[in-house]
Amino acid sequence: MTDAHPINDSGKPTARKSQPLIGLGHAGGALVGWDGRSPSLEAQAKSSIATGSMSMRETDTPVKVEAIEERIRSTPAYQAKFNAASAGKPINVDTIVQAIAAFERTIEPGIAPFDRWVGGDETAVSDSSKRGFGLFAGKAACFTCHSGWRFTDDQFHDIGTTTTDQGRGRETKVEAQNFAFKTPTLRSVALRAPYMHNASLATLADVVKHYERGGIDRPSRSPMMLPVKLTDQERLDLVAFMETLTGKADAAGQGR
Ligand code: HEC
Repeated sequence: MTDAHPINDSGKPTARKSQPLIGLGHAGGALVGWDGRSPSLEAQAKSSIATGSMSMRETDTPVKVEAIEERIRSTPAYQAKFNAASAGKPINVDTIVQAIAAFERTIEPGIAPFDRWVGGDETAVSDSSKRGFGLFAGKAACFTCHSGWRFTDDQFHDIGTTTTDQGRGRETKVEAQNFAFKTPTLRSVALRAPYMHNASLATLADVVKHYERGGIDRPSRSPMMLPVKLTDQERLDLVAFMETLTGKADAAGQGR
């Protein structure tokens, strides 16, 4: 299990869990972050450098962006790499965040047993997980939001968690968007317990139970949150399906 809440510069756990970066290179122009506050990975990195104290090991508050630029500029290894990637461009906060975002876009989910099954290998996954995929795309209606091969629509929904964090609504000041968060990719989800932006659900079995009940009924809850009745076997099947989405890192160590 990974640490659910990163520690901030005051030594306190952050309110939200870190989001997975895998597959973001395929997210097109989707907004970035649980609450979509950044229009791009570049903008996210820039605002994190400029506003988050301790970003890139700077201890001044507010962070002096010039100090970061200078540190990178005066490191020969970085000079060489920046030159190779974009000869003639200066090393400044804009090219630094371009480099960070370019790296993030290379973090691929890797090939999962589910992909081998879709590719025709019937032995790649269990019968239980095959039934689970049927439920996911059918009766349990998970695919309405966890759509496409990354299993996310990159949109924001209130799924009725116990949260008091207004999420997307705090950004847009639109009440109907309160408690809405970005649909996370389900690629390699089995490696990422506990679940949800606030780490409120410990296991994938708990997540399935949450969706059965449909969460807290409040005005902002998505109309796509439809309670569903599952048998014990169907609950196991759904979890087995999600476990087939764990990608294998390639030779370069990517895919997590
Ligand atoms: C209305 C859209 C919607 C539907 C339908 C939906 N999800 Fe989600 N799912 C989300 C959103 C949004 C989150 C993140 C919510 C949060 O953190 O507050 C999420 C989170 C999750 C997570 C946690 C992922 C993580 O990294 O923390 C899992 C697992 C999951 N959903 C599985 C399912 C399954 C299984 C179903 C069907 C039974 C389903 N979802 C149906 C939108 C949806």
